[in-house]
Amino acid sequence: MLWYAWRFSISPALHPNEPAELPYLIPFVGHLFSMFTGASRLFSQGKKRFHNQPFSVTTMGQSMYIVTSPSAVVSIYKVPKAIDFDPIMPDFLRRYGLDQAAISAIFRPHEGAGKSWLDGMLDNFKLQLHPGTRLDLLQDVLLKRIDHHLRWENLDGPMVKANGQHEKNVDVMEWVGTIIIDAQTRALFDASFFEACPDAISQLMTFEEEGWKWPLDLPRFAARKMYESMEYVEKGLAEYFMLRKDKRNGESWLIQTMSNSIDDLNLNAMQKAMTVFSIYRTVNANAYKQVFWALSYILFDEHTLLHDLKTEIAPAFDTSDTLNLEYLFSSCPLLASACEEALRLTIWSVGARIVTKDTVIDGKTLRKGRNLLMTYRTMHFSPDVFGADADTFNPTRFMNNKDLVKSPSYRPFGGASHYCPGRFVARKEVQMTVALILRRFDLEVVGEGGKPPKFPKMDDTLPSGGIQNPLSGQFLRVKVRPART
Ligand code: HEM
Repeated sequence: MLWYAWRFSISPALHPNEPAELPYLIPFVGHLFSMFTGASRLFSQGKKRFHNQPFSVTTMGQSMYIVTSPSAVVSIYKVPKAIDFDPIMPDFLRRYGLDQAAISAIFRPHEGAGKSWLDGMLDNFKLQLHPGTRLDLLQDVLLKRIDHHLRWENLDGPMVKANGQHEKNVDVMEWVGTIIIDAQTRALFDASFFEACPDAISQLMTFEEEGWKWPLDLPRFAARKMYESMEYVEKGLAEYFMLRKDKRNGESWLIQTMSNSIDDLNLNAMQKAMTVFSIYRTVNANAYKQVFWALSYILFDEHTLLHDLKTEIAPAFDTSDTLNLEYLFSSCPLLASACEEALRLTIWSVGARIVTKDTVIDGKTLRKGRNLLMTYRTMHFSPDVFGADADTFNPTRFMNNKDLVKSPSYRPFGGASHYCPGRFVARKEVQMTVALILRRFDLEVVGEGGKPPKFPKMDDTLPSGGIQNPLSGQFLRVKVRPART
């Protein structure tokens, strides 16, 4: 009792400039249980209690600062060296299997340039994925491949759970995952990647399903499936890079540049593959899940959303059902808004940093050596910004308020120097996939074993850093027929 009063009342009163600690009952263990059962709830509770000022949570004796206000996030972005992302990266890379020598090589500043290989690579991501000719080339391959997949005759594979001549029973996550990961892989790598790594898509999706274990750094016996799927893809990447360069002619500029420059670091084949896996995983982790959630919201909508969307996108298709992408991306505001709203509700993006120098943010002194988490998700539910219905799906929200997408309270792609460079292509591929599915197929949601279908429940426990998975055992199954247009 004395300990509790000292820690959570007396000490904060004596040190008003230090971030206050969110109270907990069991010393040392702290908020461990709440973190695992509902981190989102825990952070929202702290946000409310401390009026949006930085606060601190403790798990297993480790204290971490939590930042929930948009203005504090902007202040942190302005001091990237004092509150830094880089010190977090080596630990991430170690979990992908990299050894210390490889990690040091990746971070070593190049003579003259002052930038490390990793800095250069992240710059190259921007050169490839920010609007311009290089993005146009990549996007062309990507979007054509999505179009190819979304034809009745090409709807085939493990996602089809029951097959009829005019009707198929399809698992939506497997369907959209296969389409998007295949298209993104072919846009970045040569098609020979799939000869070296034939099960890359299903293994990557297994890794993503098990991905909640990744931040926990569990030993192998507790996360066997996750490690095995990661190692399968890493081995495939190693074999791919061993192919002669003339067998990899279809590679994007980014992968060619990455492969050449990484060779200068003298990493062995597996260490090179593990480095590329960390990037391959980041690139593929989110867009397919956004399509899954957008379709879930659309198909479970009790109003006229499906009908309104079909009507809106119809003029984007000509008589031979070819899609006019320019029209789709410029003249379908409801589609864009509904996809954005699904992203807002399901993304658990965070900005993880380490405080490297005592720094004052929002009047609170953040101490050197502490971990810090900017919990963007808690900002996505602010009624002041998103309205009184911020907790629910409102497909017209972003259409009715065009500035919302640029609000500092909306950060699905992070921000500042690590702002997701894939955001331009991601928004397009998601909207296009949803539009093609709604246009080319008639969909009917089906329940398990004849029971009425239920909206899949999202896993809202630990932040994944990206779009959340449905809880284990939750899925979206649809009967798919060619559309009667
Ligand atoms: C809906 C889809 C996507 C979402 C929600 C998403 C979200 C994010 C988030 C939250 C981050 C971390 C930002 C931070 O730490 O502040 C990130 C980083 C990144 N994303 Fe995306 N992303 C998506 C799609 C893509 C795609 C399609 C690509 C590439 C084709 C991509 C490439 C990257 C890269 C390379 C980084 C690391 C950037 C850096 O550390 O500098 N992302 N993404």
